[in-house]
Amino acid sequence: VLCWFYIFPVYRLPRDKEIVEEVLRQGEIWQKNQTGIDLYRKLLTDCCDPQRMFAVTKENSPMGKVLWYDGEFYHSHTVNNETYPLFVQDNPLQLPLKKCAVVGNGGILRHSKCGRHIDQADFVMRCNLPPLSKEYVEDVGTRTHLVTANPSIIEKRFQNLLWSRKAFVDSMKVYGSSYIYMPAFSMKPGTDPSLRAYYALADTSSNLTMLFANPEFLRTVGKFWKARSVHAKRLSTGLFLISLALGLCEEVTAYGFWPFSVGLDEQPVSHHYYDNILPYKWFHAMPEEFVQLWHLHKSGTLRMRVGHCP
Ligand code: CDP
Repeated sequence: VLCWFYIFPVYRLPRDKEIVEEVLRQGEIWQKNQTGIDLYRKLLTDCCDPQRMFAVTKENSPMGKVLWYDGEFYHSHTVNNETYPLFVQDNPLQLPLKKCAVVGNGGILRHSKCGRHIDQADFVMRCNLPPLSKEYVEDVGTRTHLVTANPSIIEKRFQNLLWSRKAFVDSMKVYGSSYIYMPAFSMKPGTDPSLRAYYALADTSSNLTMLFANPEFLRTVGKFWKARSVHAKRLSTGLFLISLALGLCEEVTAYGFWPFSVGLDEQPVSHHYYDNILPYKWFHAMPEEFVQLWHLHKSGTLRMRVGHCP
């Protein structure tokens, strides 16, 4: 057994409890490390070129370009007369972004009082069209500059926009004039709902700007983390956004990343700040992701807020 272990050392992920204890030991101590920040920006730029590639643009995806779906094998979309006009010309963000807040949907945000902190960032990114109603404002803030939307939400929550376009457009108003970032070319069944969402917003002169996530960017970011011990069928939305932020922002603070059922006070924590619906078990590897993010926190490359905000 010993020999076998030496030949194939097994990477053992620390159990949830051990991670929680480690976080407790570290406490709220955090020291910004400019070298770490510069290094990660360079690593991410070299692998994934977020500045140029994070969205599908007219510049990186001209007519006739084949976009290979990153979430499944052997499916592609060739940019055509129907899709090309829907792409933005080029990366529309004013770079570099200064202080960015990436807000995950973890239950630790509940009663965190982090809303004010989040709203002080220059650029706020959120995941999966999260609720921002009054009861949550104190904990999660109100401002949004970029929000992701999974095509499955369009199908489930808005009946694929077949008769609920108004409900969709109205519920998007809480995100102000932000970018809505949709992985339209990740899974084949997601393309149609994403295009419908684009038209629903465009037809009502909404303040939101649709950006389609570039499948090539998502694929390269997936590889980047795979090489760093994140083994999942697919990265979580939150890790994609943190990777984007590390590539584009001068300083990144992450809130609501806590994929454990127990909090630092040993009290139960719900999966989301607004419900306790658990994810599909083997799809993401959120605890593995958390370990990597905590390394970055310890090295001063990004700041993770896992407790209450002062
Ligand atoms: O769709 P997905 O399961 O990726 O995301 P979500 O449940 O809407 O949450 C948004 C993001 O927050 C996730 O992608 C995770 O990165 C993060 N999250 C977390 O770290 N801990 C939780 N308990 C829940 C979400």
